[in-house]
Amino acid sequence: MAVRLSVNLNKVALIRNARGSNHPNLIQFAKDCEEFGAQGITVHPRPDERHVRYADLQPLKDVVKTEFNIEGNPTPKFIDHVLKVKPHQVTLVPDAPDALTSDAGWDTIKNKEFLSDVIAQFKNEGIRVSLFIDPDNDLISGAKEVGADRIEFYTGPYADQYLEDREKAIKPFIAAAKYCHTIGLDINAGHDLNLDNLNFFCSEVPYLKEVSIGHALISDALYYGVSNVIAMYLYQINKTR
Ligand code: PXP
Repeated sequence: MAVRLSVNLNKVALIRNARGSNHPNLIQFAKDCEEFGAQGITVHPRPDERHVRYADLQPLKDVVKTEFNIEGNPTPKFIDHVLKVKPHQVTLVPDAPDALTSDAGWDTIKNKEFLSDVIAQFKNEGIRVSLFIDPDNDLISGAKEVGADRIEFYTGPYADQYLEDREKAIKPFIAAAKYCHTIGLDINAGHDLNLDNLNFFCSEVPYLKEVSIGHALISDALYYGVSNVIAMYLYQINKTR
């Protein structure tokens, strides 16, 4: 099964918000990304709504024809909105309210009760739940125990180490992916993936279902244009090494 590309639109919303108008139009942008080949749309509302806003969620859900993924820290407000909008997938992330970006996965052991409760609420509404997580077997077992359907590997450390020693950087992800498979957890991945490091990740890590990519893809679109960039990312995902 091919790995799906979900395009994270937070940076598009950030540009829109800079001028207080509706340009670029986030909803049209989502539709265009799908037309150009994206197999999913991801957004990550943060408490200060500096990127995507809670009010964007339903209009996005109304137009997305592929898969709609909402990421974020499950605060009461986030939970309420996600339960109302019912995306295909919710990805829970333990980011602090003032975090510049997500920079660590869940401690699924310390947060066992909280996560079990929150995940049950989403699953009752038929929403698939993924947990942002580091490649560690104990934390992965914890994700299974609290009822997650998937995990999303936090790939920041892989991207940081890629140029220096990519074989070393990928090792924990390969081992953790094999473990996920043995216990029946599906696998997504994201953070700092780009045109340089994406192909190696997708070719080496087995059982991968989806990558979600925002910052690098939208930055590359400034040079190449959105339709070209989506084709370029799909090429990196699918080409054999
Ligand atoms: N996954 C999660 C949980 C994230 O918070 C982000 C950033 O919003 C991404 C993936 C995408 O990361 P990037 O913007 O570096 O591609």
